[in-house]
Amino acid sequence: MCGIVGYIGSRPVLPVLLDGLARLEYRGYDSAGIAFILRGQIRICKKKGRLAQLEQALAAADLAGEPIRVGIGHTRWATHGAPSDENSHPHLSANGRIAVVHNGIIENYIDLKRYLCAQGCCFHSETDTEVVAHLVDLHYERDCPGDLMAAVCLTLAELEGSYALGVLCADQPDRFIAARKDSPLVIGLGEDGHFIASDIPALLGQTRRVLIMEDREVAVIERQRVQLFDALGRPVCREPLQVQWDSTAAEKGGYKHFMMKEIFEEPRAVRDTLTRHIRRGALDLPAIGWPRPVRQVCIVACGTAYHAGMVAKIVIEQLCRVPVVVDIASEFRYRDPILDDETMVIIISQSGETLDTLAAMREARSRGGHILAVVNVVGSSIAREAAAVLFTAAGPEIAVASTKAYSTQLAALYLLAFSLAQRLNRMTAAEVGEKIDALLAVPAMIDSVLASQAEIQRFAAAHFNAHSIFFMGRGLDYALAMEASLKLKEISYIHSEAYAGGELKHGTIALIEPGTLVICPLTQPALLDKMISNIREVKARGALILGILTPSCRKAADVCDAVFMLPDVPPLLAPLVAVTPTQLFAYYMSLNKGLDVDKPRNLAKSVTVE
Ligand code: G6P
Repeated sequence: MCGIVGYIGSRPVLPVLLDGLARLEYRGYDSAGIAFILRGQIRICKKKGRLAQLEQALAAADLAGEPIRVGIGHTRWATHGAPSDENSHPHLSANGRIAVVHNGIIENYIDLKRYLCAQGCCFHSETDTEVVAHLVDLHYERDCPGDLMAAVCLTLAELEGSYALGVLCADQPDRFIAARKDSPLVIGLGEDGHFIASDIPALLGQTRRVLIMEDREVAVIERQRVQLFDALGRPVCREPLQVQWDSTAAEKGGYKHFMMKEIFEEPRAVRDTLTRHIRRGALDLPAIGWPRPVRQVCIVACGTAYHAGMVAKIVIEQLCRVPVVVDIASEFRYRDPILDDETMVIIISQSGETLDTLAAMREARSRGGHILAVVNVVGSSIAREAAAVLFTAAGPEIAVASTKAYSTQLAALYLLAFSLAQRLNRMTAAEVGEKIDALLAVPAMIDSVLASQAEIQRFAAAHFNAHSIFFMGRGLDYALAMEASLKLKEISYIHSEAYAGGELKHGTIALIEPGTLVICPLTQPALLDKMISNIREVKARGALILGILTPSCRKAADVCDAVFMLPDVPPLLAPLVAVTPTQLFAYYMSLNKGLDVDKPRNLAKSVTVE
């Protein structure tokens, strides 16, 4: 999704902005641009396509050695208007005095545009953002000449929707303005200047001292100082955060793609997530604020995080005997959900910024639910607003397709399930201790799956021309199949569906033709005979079966055309180990098709619009 950077300081501005934009590429974008002040005038360079196009255009402009000290930049993920040079950010006011970059959606932009047109403004793009540039300029001219901060604040009061904004004014080369509401924005404090960015990884090349902006705050960024103000214009004093991630954590480290690097980080990430919350063989979770009694658990998330929630539902219901509802955040927030102060709401989000998930969390809180968030990014909006947070230790996840974040979400959710089971006297401390031991054995099992990656690579090489691939499983294997199928779709663009073993014959089996690949995680011995029957049903229609098996499900090998053997993971924990071969499969399918593995078309890493 859109990314923002900004810098004012003594270093050459353009390389700083381009470095920041490159670090934001992973969020997904279709055009990029920058604005800077040169000899009292705003100059803009923006291009549809990849950052390389923008870099070429800048190189052609021959700006090296020019005294540029301030600039803002943007990667755009199109919402209002197709990807094009005109619709790219930054957007300028009519007289070229104000430049704006924006992430979010201005919901009342049509009304504002009508008003501005009546004032004589001409528009050059189809975006919602352009109104902001014209409005700031109008206020700057009419209501508060010389006071950029006041002009921005008057503008913000007129905006409905979400925004992270960077605003540059040709008359004010010594500062720029940043503002946020419901879209992330952080300020980086450097030795020789200050920065803004949509997320912390974008700043890691420059600084690790970060101020996280809260909703409705506005900041004036100057070379030697940063002033932060709340919605009422009162100064805000906030301690900067010292980010622990180092910049190499957000680099490829010898791997061809971030996705591969991140898959190979799973053992480390899962181990860190577990050990962070285990002390001397017992659970050591932060205060969670469980309701008393726990009448139900409601899990809310999007995408891969939602699939982690599907696994958690089965585990929690099995261990705790408490009903669990899993909801897609964008559905939950509008469906008048039933919850009360006996409901534990678990919000799952890698980024902690997904707009629907954040809004769903607020909705749940307003209905009295107890909120616990499972989040990866420290300092993110969800982490800051949730009553309790269980942090995963994935580290920065850059590839759009989520891998290690999913594994660590599962790890955290297992710990949570054990904790609730113990609290409800469904498990003794000794039983929890045994489960913890089993969990701690998982990272080594993922390592052994990774050691066999060549088998998956060969399998993908034989099937990357497939038009359609199905995943089928029961129980936890079904929840896993959902994630496996999503991963394949995201990066290989191959049509794929995941089905519960018993459900395929109620319609979808019509799509099975001779040669159709059906991939079956088979890790649940209690459901194995039923799955073998389901496999026979699709085989009878010509399907080819790849079984991803644990040793305790070995007998299913007879009905499979190919088999990937997993280590002997207990059935309850199987998704943690069985997911890795499915991620490798998606990776190699994408690679074989020559696609952009880390930045698949149309997708964004952090979805900050509805
Ligand atoms: C986007 C990403 C997915 C991710 C989902 C939820 O769609 O491409 O990989 O699962 O958002 O993101 P979150 O940061 O809330 O986990």
